[in-house]
Amino acid sequence: MAPLRIASIPGDGIGPEVVSATIQVLQQLSKTLGTFEIDFTHVPWGTDYYKKNGRYIPDDALTTLRQFDAVLFGAVGAPDVPDHVSLWGLLLAIRGPLQLYANVRPVRTFPGTKSPLDTAKKGIDWMLVRENSEGEYSGQGGRSHVGQQWEAATEVAMFTRVGIERIIRFAFETAQSRPKKQLTVVTKSNSMRNGMVLWDEIAASVAKEFPDVTWDKMLVDAMTVRMVMKPQSLDTIVGTNLHMDILSDLAAALAGSIGIAPSSNLDPTRKNPSMFEPVHGSAFDITGKGIANPVGTFWSAAEMLSWLGEKDASNKLLVCIEEVCAAGFVTADLGGSCNTQQVVDAVCAEIQKLGT
Ligand SMILES: NC(=O)c1ccc[n+]([C@@H]2O[C@H](COP(=O)([O-])OP(=O)(O)OC[C@H]3O[C@@H](n4cnc5c(N)ncnc54)[C@H](O)[C@@H]3O)[C@@H](O)[C@H]2O)c1
Repeated sequence: MAPLRIASIPGDGIGPEVVSATIQVLQQLSKTLGTFEIDFTHVPWGTDYYKKNGRYIPDDALTTLRQFDAVLFGAVGAPDVPDHVSLWGLLLAIRGPLQLYANVRPVRTFPGTKSPLDTAKKGIDWMLVRENSEGEYSGQGGRSHVGQQWEAATEVAMFTRVGIERIIRFAFETAQSRPKKQLTVVTKSNSMRNGMVLWDEIAASVAKEFPDVTWDKMLVDAMTVRMVMKPQSLDTIVGTNLHMDILSDLAAALAGSIGIAPSSNLDPTRKNPSMFEPVHGSAFDITGKGIANPVGTFWSAAEMLSWLGEKDASNKLLVCIEEVCAAGFVTADLGGSCNTQQVVDAVCAEIQKLGT
């Protein structure tokens, strides 16, 4: 059996804590099920690496990553480095060049998790699809008259027909694979009359290929209201890099905690390894305390197993995580009193039961 080759990039802050927790759980799953083998290679990129080498990743970083089946990522960002330097230095230096253009973020009310919404009595079950390679995060723009009173900066959002079409098609396919077969396309095409109008036009055109998917479109501001007031009216949601970055944090909070939110950075063409990471960042306020919620990374790892063809192992891992959460073994952000290792131990014990 060829092992799954995983590059693990723990990164900064609580990243190493949640990645190490997840490696323990995946190794236990592999040992108990015996249906797959998994090998982790530690890749030390992050702010410590940056401070020693003056850069977040080496020249041959993409070649290195292409040797693996997938990447498990923790978080990037440190209090003493500007966020745009760390984010562009590491995460965005991987997502864009590897063309991981589909950022998929399932959002579901987990057992043991409480939505703060009265309107979500039946819980939340959404699939968020974020364009992950261009748009507002294309890095286009610049600064002039630096240091002068009249200093100016531009931040240009770049939308391409290829970029929009491939993410909209991916979102329709995702919606089609879910029971509700329903998609909402989020834009801001009233005030942004170029790129966002192109999104609307392409959505209408691609929709014709998916007659079995019901779709509608929403302006991003109205979408925040709908997510809060009528959460049950939504299923799959697609939008731009910036819009879905913001909406997915809102979604995670509405489902109960950012600590459980997973994400997959996919290259749907499978030419490059895809990267799996929790939605949360470095969480400076709890770094080193051993109390970070590892569930977002566990769930991301389950998505990784599924992407790599290990669907049964993925489903079993998710069930074990849900059992543990339902039994109240949760961290403080979910109202519990467990530390990270106690959650790991509880999930490993639940996995061991699969083998009995
Ligand atoms: N994908 C990434 O690597 C990523 C994502 C977001 C932010 N960041 C970076 O992380 C740093 C901090 O950003 P931020 O404070 O805006 O967002 P954050 O997600 O790091 O933290 C926001 C809040 O959520 C809490 N939180 C986050 N993850 C948690 C977990 N697993 N368990 C329990 N509580 C958790 C934190 O304690 C904090 O109070 C910045 O440098 C930012 O650029 C990185």
